[in-house]
Amino acid sequence: MKANAKTAATLRSLAAGRGVRIGCAVGRAFWSDERYRELLARECNVIVAENVMKWGLIHPERERYDWGPADELVAFARAHRMRMRGHTFVWHRQAPPWLEKGTFGRDEFFGILREHVTALAVRYQGVVAEWDVVNEALDDNGGFLRNSFWSRACGQDFIDAAFSYAHEADPDALLFYNDYGIEYECVKQERLFELLRGMIARGVPIHGVGLQCHFETGKVPVEGMRRVIGRIAKLGLKAAITELDIRIARPTGAQELAQQAKEYAALTRVFLEFSGSCDCQLTWGITDRYSWVPVFFEGFDDALLFDREYRPKPAADAVATEFAHRA
Ligand code: XIL
Repeated sequence: MKANAKTAATLRSLAAGRGVRIGCAVGRAFWSDERYRELLARECNVIVAENVMKWGLIHPERERYDWGPADELVAFARAHRMRMRGHTFVWHRQAPPWLEKGTFGRDEFFGILREHVTALAVRYQGVVAEWDVVNEALDDNGGFLRNSFWSRACGQDFIDAAFSYAHEADPDALLFYNDYGIEYECVKQERLFELLRGMIARGVPIHGVGLQCHFETGKVPVEGMRRVIGRIAKLGLKAAITELDIRIARPTGAQELAQQAKEYAALTRVFLEFSGSCDCQLTWGITDRYSWVPVFFEGFDDALLFDREYRPKPAADAVATEFAHRA
């Protein structure tokens, strides 16, 4: 099985064989590129919207939701028997001006949050099995909460409230707190565990933590991942790898691709070790033809599993091999 895992089987079928979910964020190319859609259908048993379920896109005006694009993704997921992750109810970015700049009383603000969360969770019940309820609420510089329009409007309470509203709307959905910079030991990770312990003590319906995992080749915290997933599991929570990519400093050569493949393989081993508590691994995109990396990280690229021509890179083969030979 090992040698030819990559040609014989897709990542999707290998993951299904291990009882786990593998997939990616789906971006704009979904609406323009048939080959991209074919690649998704072949390789993924779970997808997440890269942008179209974010507040600013799906609820651009107070009285108007723009369901079209998200509905199309959900229909695609259903047609191809995939699950979806929902991303994301509460974030300080990609929020519509009416919300971010609005001057609402506290009760009104919570009412708006409840209405938004309920509308999405109810509409996509049954397909969106888990939600990133709150995204990136922790501070990057050692404080507790990020200073954002959310924390300025209502301190910490928006976090508990969003989870409670989501649970009320869809009691079957698994609810995650999602962030970056928490994958290895650091102050932000300690703040994460403070947040989690507090939420658990208050009886907030939280079920898991999304580890974004935007990494750079040569600096992938494999041991950190093993430890943090273990710590999350000890709290009785699930972990999910939600936005994995491993960017390479240009120019990319064979050596860098081989190093990246080793790192994807090492992370896949950790993922499979913990499949009881971490059963979903998503990359933030699928082909290097379309990726947020070169846009957001100057000088970096080639972070994903498939190349610009949709061919599996050494990283994809390495992931497939891990799935196959550890079965
Ligand atoms: C990014 C998208 O990939 C971009 O297309 C968009 O312009 C900005 O957001 N963390 C997250 C994701 O939780 O929502 C972000 O996605 C990447 C970082």
